[in-house]
Amino acid sequence: MYSALSSTSRISTGIKGLDELIEGGLIPGRVYLVTGPPGSGKTTFALQFLLDGARRGEKCLYVSLVQKPEDIIHDMARYDPSILAYVKKWRIMLYDLGPILWRESTKVPTWRSVLSRIKELAEDEKIHRLAIDPLTAIDFPTENTAEKRTELARFIRGIENLGITALLVDEMTEMDRYTEEHYLVSGVIMLHYFMYNNRMIRAIQILKMRGTKHDPNLKKLEFSDNGLVVFNKYPFEEEG
Ligand SMILES: Nc1ncnc2c1ncn2[C@@H]1O[C@H](COP(=O)(O)OP(=O)(O)O)[C@@H](O)[C@H]1O
Ligand SMILES: [Mg+2]
Repeated sequence: MYSALSSTSRISTGIKGLDELIEGGLIPGRVYLVTGPPGSGKTTFALQFLLDGARRGEKCLYVSLVQKPEDIIHDMARYDPSILAYVKKWRIMLYDLGPILWRESTKVPTWRSVLSRIKELAEDEKIHRLAIDPLTAIDFPTENTAEKRTELARFIRGIENLGITALLVDEMTEMDRYTEEHYLVSGVIMLHYFMYNNRMIRAIQILKMRGTKHDPNLKKLEFSDNGLVVFNKYPFEEEG
């Protein structure tokens, strides 16, 4: 009997206004992608997701590849100072892969090495939520497209087998370029910004969400005092 078939529970994204647009949230134990250009809010999104888990007493893991985790936590504390306490209590665990990346060695993190480290951590402490930011810094041991796909699929399956709900942060420079990860994950959330009437307009788009009825059109996204907030409306409509 597949337990997944009888389960209708959803896991909150931690983003105000977003769960309502995706039947209550993400399906637990699946891997999702958050993508968008620089400054579109990907890191904030990932941390809000982990904070929501921490608040519910879950163990969360943030794997950082480029930015120093301390800086990220410091920036996020402006929205929600409670993140500091969760980090101290190891409710949000930080795993900095940066030093491996910057050292001039051949030991660049690969999908395999990242998965095996996550497995180790998951054995010690049950991890409920995971964010990897950004996955573009993880290396493939091959240039072969089919092998890359297998490598990534193995990683995604590995995370799913651990029962972890994961957000992979992807850096998208060309909006019309879809890479392997877009096909393999359970959902793709795209963050956008546009210049409109000399103002910057932010938007979110649920591009793909398996097993979920959703509107794939752009929705208004804003940075509030508490972080990112989604509005169920077209982002370009003038207020008032
Ligand atoms: N309080 C705020 N109000 C408006 N914009 C903000 C606020 N805080 C951060 N930002 C914007 O969000 C950006 C950082 O978002 P981040 O989640 O790091 O994006 P990404 O990971 O996609 O690069 C900042 O560079 C800034 O432009
Ligand atoms: Mg970022």
